[in-house]
Amino acid sequence: MTELLTPEQLPRAAELLRAGELVAFPTETVYGLGADARNARAVAAVFAAKGRPSFNPLISHFPDAEAAFAEVVADERARHVAARFWPGPLTLVLPRRPDSRIDALTGAGLPTLAVRVPAHPLAQALLREVGVPVAAPSANRSGQVSPTTAAHVLAGLEGRLAAVLDGGPCTVGLESTVLDLSTPVATLLRPGGVPREALEAAIGPLALADATGGEAARPSPGMLLSHYAPGLPVRLEARDVAADEALLAFGPPLPGAGAVWQLSESGDLVEAASRLFAGLRWLDAEGERLALNGIAAMPVPEHGLGLAINDRLRRAAAPR
Ligand code: TXA
Ligand code: MG
Repeated sequence: MTELLTPEQLPRAAELLRAGELVAFPTETVYGLGADARNARAVAAVFAAKGRPSFNPLISHFPDAEAAFAEVVADERARHVAARFWPGPLTLVLPRRPDSRIDALTGAGLPTLAVRVPAHPLAQALLREVGVPVAAPSANRSGQVSPTTAAHVLAGLEGRLAAVLDGGPCTVGLESTVLDLSTPVATLLRPGGVPREALEAAIGPLALADATGGEAARPSPGMLLSHYAPGLPVRLEARDVAADEALLAFGPPLPGAGAVWQLSESGDLVEAASRLFAGLRWLDAEGERLALNGIAAMPVPEHGLGLAINDRLRRAAAPR
């Protein structure tokens, strides 16, 4: 049985986490499947609950930069970025401190750790109350669309975790930007809630990880090509739509679709990001109900949050 907790029941969520149980909680990006990052058994249970095929490293969450930097080595550049973007939808990969309390499994045995300070008030309150680093991947079964509501979490993981702390829908709606600052060249490992342009304005040009290259060219182990997969096949850059297709619209919708989910009528990328994952879920359900044969996604511009939206759509469309 999975408990559904209200914000007032936050102390219960903290107590379960400290006891080594799994608790999903809201962040401004997506819901995370939380576990005590120092506890190997709890972290192993996260991999089992998600059905992750391999020990792909997890992000550790903290209430503030000071707590995060107790676990990793932060240079000037990292401090500058943290001061500018934390709390917020940004994850930093930094060298692990030799005295870090984070379990090796959390970091998949790597010499680096991914750390994040989320901005969601409930996540902030929970992390303060728990008082230990919380490892949390997105709270979905491996390969499925990330959850942006407590109901999405339960739909995928009911019975596989102790509790879900319900903080309503996530505002950003897609995962954090992952920035590798463990090397002299700052590298964007995963586009996400903080736009690349904003990071480059703060620290200069970024190198881009090649998420589509071979295994060796993929320094962020979680960037599997097929991911965020809805049940129906996804067709990208649609300029037309058939009656047996569901439409993921951006701007004025193409006519003739069997069902339509509007990301943003006005072409606002922030609104579109916040509606992406809920839309893929809804179109999947509608597609099944109406016996449609696929999802056609209208083009989204490749700037600002469009980078992260297109990244997730390409993964949703990749061969399974
Ligand atoms: O918005 C988010 O980031 C959400 C919320 C819950 O914080 N979390 C999330 O976690 O998306 P997850 O596990 O789905 O994605 C973490 C990504 C993966 O691509 C993983 O490979 C990468 O971060 N990562 C973690 N540690 C790393 C490390 N030491 N070096 C390189 N990449 C790392
Ligand atoms: Mg994920």
